[in-house]
Amino acid sequence: MKMTATATRPLPDILHDTPAQEIIKAGLDYAGDNVKLACSFSIEDIVVIDLLKRTASAISVFALDTGRLPEETYETAEAICQHYSIQIDWYFPKRESVEKLERDKGLFSFRDNIENRKECCAIRKVEPLSRALNGLDGWLTGMRREQSSTRTTLQPLERDHLHGNILKINPLTFWTEQETWEYVNKHHLPINRLQRNGYPSIGCAPCTRPVNEGDDSRSGRWWWENAEHKECGLHRR
Ligand code: ADX
Ligand code: SF4
Repeated sequence: MKMTATATRPLPDILHDTPAQEIIKAGLDYAGDNVKLACSFSIEDIVVIDLLKRTASAISVFALDTGRLPEETYETAEAICQHYSIQIDWYFPKRESVEKLERDKGLFSFRDNIENRKECCAIRKVEPLSRALNGLDGWLTGMRREQSSTRTTLQPLERDHLHGNILKINPLTFWTEQETWEYVNKHHLPINRLQRNGYPSIGCAPCTRPVNEGDDSRSGRWWWENAEHKECGLHRR
């Protein structure tokens, strides 16, 4: 992936109390309009869509359809398109790669060991992500520091060294789960109904289960693995 013109300019300073909308503005001022939101239709991503609608003249959103998403996520995607009058740029994994994986290893190889799990994520998420980001000057995510032990050093604006040093904008870096819910409720956002039914974090259906009240929000993702392995490769840092 080629380096962008922004790759060497110093990043703007962002403070701990800089509002999310200001982070978005600073990111877009820096990188320009050739920026898209990566949307999994989590409450965080829907908050970012809502903030973008209030901040930017036009918004572009892409989503990775792994082929294994919950029905509720597809329903949410349709509801979001209607609510905000937007279109989603969907990316699907390469057909030959999925066919080979399923023929060689079956439909649940990701449960066998971490290597197989990462292989599945690489085929269904990481490779499509690199196509989605190709040619962009930046991307937005809904990640928060609080979400996981692998995200505690997340920065609101950072260079994505894995993707040609384009800008990565994480406007909700410092938000708590409670703040996210307050925003969702205040603005009556159309969210995935699983989120109100024990699923604080949602990925692919076979790799996500509900959590008990008070449990870590990502404990229902790849629940058979240790916390430090719980990244699928989209956000290696
Ligand atoms: S993951 O790496 O463990 O799957 P998580 O579900 O926490 O990530 O989501 C973190 C961010 O990654 C989201 O806010 C979103 O920006 C992006 N993301 C995750 N899954 C997808 C997807 N299927 N399509 C597009 N973006 C996604
Ligand atoms: Fe495969 Fe599970 Fe990763 Fe989805 S989350 S790509 S089903 S291993």
